[in-house]
Amino acid sequence: MEITVTVNNQAYTRDIEPRLLLVHFLRDELGLTGTHWGCDTSNCGVCVVWLDEVPVKSCTVLAVMADGHRVRTVEGLEGTDGLDSVQQGFVECHGLQCGFCTPGMMMTSRWLLDHNPDPSGEDIREAISGQLCRCTGYENIVRSVRWAAEHEAAASAVPVAGEGTESGMEVQA
Ligand code: FES
Ligand code: FES
Repeated sequence: MEITVTVNNQAYTRDIEPRLLLVHFLRDELGLTGTHWGCDTSNCGVCVVWLDEVPVKSCTVLAVMADGHRVRTVEGLEGTDGLDSVQQGFVECHGLQCGFCTPGMMMTSRWLLDHNPDPSGEDIREAISGQLCRCTGYENIVRSVRWAAEHEAAASAVPVAGEGTESGMEVQA
């Protein structure tokens, strides 16, 4: 059957088997191999993508269920001005070793920060509790997400008028 799915803001129409899983649609039909395929039994979370605005395990979603919907994958995380801060956090804090879990971890972490910009370590661990990492012990993943949260908070901080001057008045050079 024919489906049209908007993936990372681009519409794709394909004629597929009704039983095709979304993870295979992304990888095999569209060539978006950033989404990984691990257990195929909804345990590992390496296949996490967003369906509309919600993280889902794409090994448990039929591609036809995404017909007419929006999907965001790790390939759609980077913005026009560079890496998403979650991606940068994983770089800064060594949040990956083999990297197999990383795309799914990033998609869940991006969703978390969009809904909770200042998550505690416990919040982060709960958010990623449906995803397995066989390499890192999770410490650096949690640090990476905290780095992203702090980076975004600093970037959005608005300077207070007069701050940094002795009198509170504008200082002319
Ligand atoms: S491949 Fe989807 S949860 Fe493991
Ligand atoms: S970095 Fe290897 S599975 Fe997480």
